[in-house]
Order: sequence, then C-alpha cells, then structure tokens
Amino acid sequence: MSSVFHLIYISKANQNLSYSDIQNILTASKKNNARDGITGLLILRDDYFVQLLEGSEAAVKKILGTIIMDERNSSLKVLLETTSDERLFDGWEMAFVDGDLSNNSTQELVDFFEACVDSGHKGKGLILPLLKKFRASAPILK
Ligand SMILES: Cc1cc2nc3c(=O)[nH]c(=O)nc-3n(C[C@H](O)[C@H](O)[C@H](O)COP(=O)(O)O)c2cc1C
Repeated sequence: MSSVFHLIYISKANQNLSYSDIQNILTASKKNNARDGITGLLILRDDYFVQLLEGSEAAVKKILGTIIMDERNSSLKVLLETTSDERLFDGWEMAFVDGDLSNNSTQELVDFFEACVDSGHKGKGLILPLLKKFRASAPILK
C-alpha cells in the first residue's frame, strides 16, 4: 500500500536571510509538522533550499501552498512527487542540514543537491536514489 506522499522542491533563499530566520522556520515546522503528520528534511546550500516533505498528500500540498507564499524564499519549483510505503525521515518533524558547513558537505549531500539543481538536465530519476544514499550516509540523521 502506497500511503506516504513525498514531495521535493527547490527554491531560492532570500538574500537577507539570517540565522534567526532559519531558527524561526524550524520552530514553526516542528510544531506544525508534528500536528499535521509531516516529516522531512530541509537543506540550505549556495542560497538554495531543497526540502523533502512527506505525509498525506493533502497535508503536504497544504503546507507547500504556505511555503510558496513565504517571502523568505522565492522561485519555488517542485522537482518530484511520488508515493511509497514508508517515510524516509520517520520521526523527523523537519531535519535541517546547513550544506554550506564544510563538515556537512559530504559527497552524498553534494551529489543529491547537484541533482536537484540540475534536475532539468540530468533527469529527475536520479533525485530519489541520491537522497536515499545521502540518508543512509548521514550519521547526524540516524
Ligand atoms: C524554505 C522554507 C521551508 C519551510 N518549511 C516548513 C515546514 O516544513 N512546515 C511548516 O509548518 N512551515 C514551514 N515553513 C514556514 C511556513 O512558510 C510558515 O511561515 C509557517 O508554517 C507558519 O507557521 P505558523 O502559522 O505556526 O506561524 C517553511 C518556510 C520556508 C521559507
């Protein structure tokens, strides 16, 4: 039974974004996502956000509508929508990775991120396998 809806998007982070903006996004995410049964991952790197949202399709699409309108990001582009049997980030109301910190810039993170940035060229088929590889490799998220 495919009951979990997964959505991955990329957006441009607002240039004036501060550390406290990120903290506020994560605080709201943890509260709202716990209530709405959403889990996932948010990565910030090179002034781009990549986010995986997973849960019921209705809940994911509802929060996506809010994020699209959020002035802390712009030019949001959905890269992938799919369903599966299980969550990739079960238990994570919203994991966060600062992908600009050198100790987070693992090959797996960079490969996944590049696939998202280049999705038009490389094909979207790479995104999910590379995300799973990153998920398996990231000790901080285990
Ligand atoms: C890149 C980005 C990702 C976000 N992710 C989430 C999220 O996963 N869940 C969430 O509730 N809000 C998220 N937000 C914040 C929402 O846009 C919105 O500010 C928030 O849901 C409002 O919460 P409140 O009604 O409790 O104040 C995100 C915002 C940005 C810019």
